[in-house]
Amino acid sequence: MDYAIQVKDLNKSYGSNQALVNISLSVRRGELVSLLGPNGAGKTTLVKHLYCELKPEVGRINVLGGNPCRSKIKRMLGVVPQESEPYDDLSVFENIYYAARIRGIGRREAKVYTEETIESLDLREYRNKYVMDLSGGLKRRTLVGMAIVHRPEVLILDEPTTGLDPLARRQLWDILKNLKKEGRAILLTTHYVEEAEVLSDRVYFINKKIISEGTPSDLRTRFSYYYEVIDYTSGKAYKVKEEELKEFISKLNGKFEVRIPSLEDVYIEMISHA
Ligand SMILES: Nc1ncnc2c1ncn2[C@@H]1O[C@H](COP(=O)(O)OP(=O)(O)O)[C@@H](O)[C@H]1O
Ligand SMILES: [Mg+2]
Repeated sequence: MDYAIQVKDLNKSYGSNQALVNISLSVRRGELVSLLGPNGAGKTTLVKHLYCELKPEVGRINVLGGNPCRSKIKRMLGVVPQESEPYDDLSVFENIYYAARIRGIGRREAKVYTEETIESLDLREYRNKYVMDLSGGLKRRTLVGMAIVHRPEVLILDEPTTGLDPLARRQLWDILKNLKKEGRAILLTTHYVEEAEVLSDRVYFINKKIISEGTPSDLRTRFSYYYEVIDYTSGKAYKVKEEELKEFISKLNGKFEVRIPSLEDVYIEMISHA
């Protein structure tokens, strides 16, 4: 079974507000997949089903071959929920160590796992610092440590870089890339197009329903309804349809450049038409 996560026809309503409409998606082992969508798109609602904070009313969820509410499956999951924080009045070491203990790991082993996690996340110099004295980026890194200390096969991160400064964001990207190399399945949610583009093997555009799915470059090409032509003589940029491109270019006199739209252009186009 090479699927780590499978979701089939998931629906969820809060009263009359339908937050998720017929969501189907999958994440393979070793794959990093992003759910990219604006605020209110249902990303958190969706991932909560994957770690058993919500149970499907309609639809099916399969994580590592089973029901994510089974304790055996839960132990193989690592989660960084949106807006979660480590305990302020514990040190980095203590936060990660207790996260391991809560997952049922014995004292001695938990200590070894914690030291390894601290090492792999480059948290050595902050090991004994209280979380209250750390920057937002280091707090988030501690949270990732708490989520991975028990060596889960599947990692779910809900907007892991929201609110971080650009440097802390890049550092977390590097951490995620390394975790991916270790063969874990990673599902992350984000509203940053660049983040999805840089990190993901595949992206799902989501806005209550799945609007589109593909590799970042798939999505860019598939949705290039138009090209962007930059006329260096006038300094203007134009959106030109493929069938009109030849004629358009033939009328330009000086230097010009033809680009396909960025993933961000595609995203904005899709979200505004959904
Ligand atoms: N506990 C809740 N009760 C009622 N409505 C909720 C609850 N959680 C989320 N919603 C609504 O569901 C929709 C999706 O929210 P959410 O899953 O948080 O989206 P995202 O994580 O993409 O920002 C929004 O309209 C939100 O207001
Ligand atoms: Mg959310």
